Amino acid sequence: MAIWLLLLLSYTIFPQYSSAISITNKITPGFPSSTFIQPEQQATKTNTTTSKLYKEKFFTQILDHFNYNPQSYQKFQQRYLINDKYWGGASNNNSPIFVYTGNEGDIEWFAQNTGFMFEAAPYFKALLVFIEHRFYGKSMPYGGSKEIAYSNSSTLGYLSSTQALADYATLILDLKKNLSATDSPVVVFGGSYGGMLAAWFRLKYPHVAVGALASSAPILNFDNITSSFSFNNIITQDFRSESENCYKVIKRSWQEIENTAAKPGGLEILRKSFRICKNYISAGSLSNWLGTAYTYTAMTDYPTPTNFLNPLPAYPVKQMCKAIDDPTTGNNTFEKLYGAANIYYNYTGEAKCFDLIDDSDPHGLGGWTWQACTEMILLTDGNTEDSLFPASNYSYNDRLEFCKSNFNIEPRPSWIPTEFGAQHIHRVLKRFGSNIIFFNGLRDPWSGGGVLKDISKSVIAIVAKEGAHHVDLRFSTSEDPEWLQDVRKREVNIISKWLSQYYHTLIDSPNS
Ligand SMILES: *[C@@H]1O[C@H](CO)[C@@H](O)[C@H](O)[C@H]1NC(C)=O
Ligand SMILES: *[C@@H]1O[C@H](CO)[C@@H](O)[C@H](O)[C@H]1NC(C)=O
Ligand SMILES: *[C@@H]1O[C@H](CO)[C@@H](O)[C@H](O)[C@H]1NC(C)=O
Ligand SMILES: *[C@@H]1O[C@H](CO)[C@@H](O)[C@H](O)[C@H]1NC(C)=O
Ligand SMILES: *[C@@H]1O[C@H](CO)[C@@H](O)[C@H](O)[C@H]1NC(C)=O
Ligand SMILES: *[C@@H]1O[C@H](CO)[C@@H](O)[C@H](O)[C@H]1NC(C)=O
Ligand SMILES: *[C@@H]1O[C@H](CO)[C@@H](O)[C@H](O)[C@H]1NC(C)=O
Repeated sequence: MAIWLLLLLSYTIFPQYSSAISITNKITPGFPSSTFIQPEQQATKTNTTTSKLYKEKFFTQILDHFNYNPQSYQKFQQRYLINDKYWGGASNNNSPIFVYTGNEGDIEWFAQNTGFMFEAAPYFKALLVFIEHRFYGKSMPYGGSKEIAYSNSSTLGYLSSTQALADYATLILDLKKNLSATDSPVVVFGGSYGGMLAAWFRLKYPHVAVGALASSAPILNFDNITSSFSFNNIITQDFRSESENCYKVIKRSWQEIENTAAKPGGLEILRKSFRICKNYISAGSLSNWLGTAYTYTAMTDYPTPTNFLNPLPAYPVKQMCKAIDDPTTGNNTFEKLYGAANIYYNYTGEAKCFDLIDDSDPHGLGGWTWQACTEMILLTDGNTEDSLFPASNYSYNDRLEFCKSNFNIEPRPSWIPTEFGAQHIHRVLKRFGSNIIFFNGLRDPWSGGGVLKDISKSVIAIVAKEGAHHVDLRFSTSEDPEWLQDVRKREVNIISKWLSQYYHTLIDSPNS
């Protein structure tokens, strides 16, 4: 059972091994490790450029927006980041406010990976605000203690998408009041789970946001609306599109790993081949480690070098396949796969050995396991016969067992579609919705659960055949391909239209 963080997924890829893997007992099974990037190094890399990007602020938020039990009145400090360098102000022109609806991690990490907002701000004279999701980063209830907040279902129970959206509405309205900017239009932005939140925010709080850019938001990945095979089919297609041989080598490797592990001394052969640290090895954990690399590399198959989940070269899937197809490795499958894994786990060249039970979580994504056990039942685990991974059927039971043993709870797979809608979305939003952009890159495994067709004149799908996970939101670079530049231009144009419509309405009927 694999629980990929949304940006990830949450899960292990090989259910048949899961009982043998210590990873399943951890809070973030399958989260890709970034152990080998030294935190200081990340800091120096981003420090000079990002330290001036925003100021950090805190807002006193209510723990439970939805009932009046006394324990609901508890407060916590919610972090948000703000940049007013480009803001045209409220008094003369009601300049807009761009809000990022934070997802499952430290908000600074998302802000630093959402250059699109910084680059659009001067043009729109926009105020930028990035709000951290409750239970992540520094926005911990229970006196800021992660330890207490993550204790059990009595404390984690307040971690939900509906509470998060209510936080955002509360904070935005209060901020506008403080800035005397009640008439400034708000546009919300988000990628991945943050993109789902942005779209839902526009639907639930149309009086707070005039529009939403929802990038790579798999809002249809629930309740069998999207096939459970879709996610891994897209990963398969990504690798196959680079080279048929690459796909075949990976596909047959799972069995080779198992066969080797079963031989006497086999695990030591695998350890040597893949430079695995001495602390732990098993066929299952090695396969999961490789599968994680293929999955996240497919998700972040960006056209320029990036450092989002891990540092990666441009077009990393192509690079992995190049390593696998490398004729100098002859017929040695493990050497080929080692070369591919090195691209995801060791692009900086600093890894001494690879730790299969590494559970470091530099971006603070651990709360996703709770979300994946309550509302976020995103079906991603199916593998058809020709999948890159071993064939398997999605099993709700695996998820159920995992969630029972971890939290003693049962997921509610239908709650999200019930609360926000997903069935017949075209029919429903055609009449009811407006001003949402759904961006998807088709190389992103999550794109199968996205909105890929225009719903109406103002609920628009932008689809980039060569795009990966919320690539449109990244800082632009001089190497960006033309299709990516075009996507961003189109997004800016659509947002301009929403804003000018808003200003017209404001002039026509200022008090209604
Ligand atoms: C990062 O920026 C902060 C604030 O400007 C500064 O105090 C700190 O020394 C910097 N860290 C590094 C590693 O440059
Ligand atoms: C849950 O955690 C809280 C905070 O640590 C603790 O006070 C409470 O007793 C725990 N509840 C259960 C049922 O373990
Ligand atoms: C608005 O101002 C009040 C009073 O200074 C402050 O407590 C609150 O945190 C501010 N709101 C936001 C969103 O910063
Ligand atoms: C999804 O489909 C599977 C297989 O057809 C079925 O067992 C399951 O009950 C369905 N789930 C929902 C939520 O409809
Ligand atoms: C390469 O390895 C595969 C699988 O182990 C085997 O089927 C094939 O015959 C080998 N080819 C050569 C040239 O050794
Ligand atoms: C990481 O890459 C460097 C440079 O290519 C190499 O020397 C080192 O052995 C690699 N680490 C592992 C664990 O393979
Ligand atoms: C998945 O389910 C289908 C239909 O029930 C079945 O034919 C197939 O053998 C199953 N695949 C696996 C890998 O269990």
